[in-house]
Amino acid sequence: MEEITNKAHVLLLPYPLQGHINPMVQFSKRLASRGVKVTLVTIDNVSKNMPKESGSIKIESIPHDEAPPQSVDESLEWYFNLISKNLGAIVEKLSNSEFPVKVLVFDSIGSWALDLAHQLGLKGAAFFTQPCSLSAIFYHMDPETSKVPFDGSVVTLPSLPLLEKKDLPTFIYDDLYPSLAKLIFSQNIHFKKADWLLFNTFDVLEKEVVNWLRTQYPIKTIGPTIPSMYLDKRLKEDKEYGLSLFKPNGETCVKWLDSREIGSVVYVSFGTLASLGEQQMEELAWGLMTSNCHFLWVVRTSEENKLPNEFMSKLSERGLIVNWCPQLDVLAHQSVGCFFTHCGWNSTLEALCLGVPMVAMPQWSDQPTNAKFISDVWQTGIRVKAGEDGVVNRDEIASSIREVMEEEKGIMLKENAIKWKQLAKEAIDEGGSSDKNIEEFLSNL
Ligand code: UDX
Repeated sequence: MEEITNKAHVLLLPYPLQGHINPMVQFSKRLASRGVKVTLVTIDNVSKNMPKESGSIKIESIPHDEAPPQSVDESLEWYFNLISKNLGAIVEKLSNSEFPVKVLVFDSIGSWALDLAHQLGLKGAAFFTQPCSLSAIFYHMDPETSKVPFDGSVVTLPSLPLLEKKDLPTFIYDDLYPSLAKLIFSQNIHFKKADWLLFNTFDVLEKEVVNWLRTQYPIKTIGPTIPSMYLDKRLKEDKEYGLSLFKPNGETCVKWLDSREIGSVVYVSFGTLASLGEQQMEELAWGLMTSNCHFLWVVRTSEENKLPNEFMSKLSERGLIVNWCPQLDVLAHQSVGCFFTHCGWNSTLEALCLGVPMVAMPQWSDQPTNAKFISDVWQTGIRVKAGEDGVVNRDEIASSIREVMEEEKGIMLKENAIKWKQLAKEAIDEGGSSDKNIEEFLSNL
């Protein structure tokens, strides 16, 4: 890996949620390993459990008196105000060093960060924590109505597979979080004004979409941002993300998995934000139980009260429930045979990079589109079907698990997963497409 000789200093500003912090921390590590100085800007609520430095990355944390608001829309505004007030002072403080700050790599959900960067005399690089397919869909959205061209049953867009309503990002058809949707849709502004557009994906994974988007804008693929020791192994210390907002029950999980047979466990997780309805939670619980497979299920503390009592009393026969786990260690464990997932982009990439087939049960945001690619394009998983009431019933859950774990189809999915794992490694390894793009990004600073 070549050391960059210019004394650049890169600031990164991830949105303070686990699914946004993980990929941007990993990107920071790739930059730091090439000799540039890297500082991650975050807020006290995130950094309170972190060291002041994480390996080669420095942390600049912004203090705040009150806790962030609970509501999604209010917290967005609160965060914007806090960063707007404090970023200038941070840049000034850091610019006195021999490594002048040159660029702000900001989370693409905040287009306001681009204006801030430019006002402070910095270049702005938008970092997309979601796949290119999302941007390729949003590109065609009517800015007034937020609608995409829909013929009633399918959406036909350049470079994308035919998409039904159930495959579209939920922001296009529901208006649960209007401020968040507005910010996400504003990403088209980045395409016109940002100095760089960085995507956590790799060329061959979204080949047609990447090629098409490149004909419109100079995007750079820099992923997958999975810790190096799971892929190219060039960053020897890089075995985990390192900055966790949740407390994992690591030892319990690994001990439990160690005592199971190879490929016999279904790992179940719905990521950091998704919240299942009570009825859905009950169907999932009994679906897992009747699949006759062992299961390790992450149920966040805020979801625990939805677990049925009778199910809990039978749990020890088949499963383990934890509030949080070291997901990469779990997916890499030989006992895990399948990942029952909500299809968040990080989880999707992690399963692809670790060669684990999936059962996809998307919830919101980009997850339905990711599920479409998992089942129909990459063919590394199957997707459960919801009933008319939107609930996926226990029989569907159990039979989908059995299809992946026990049937012929599962073998094909596993073979494909292993193929993607190899291609992911090639992309980020020396001379791979993402490796070259990171190099190019730095040499142009
Ligand atoms: C949402 C969006 O769907 C995603 O595409 C976006 O970029 C981030 O926000 P989220 O619910 O955060 O997704 O899930 P995901 O993207 O999968 O990220 C979750 C992260 O938490 C993963 O890196 C996963 O490894 C980690 N995790 C999850 C754990 O470490 N332990 C757990 O128990 C569960």
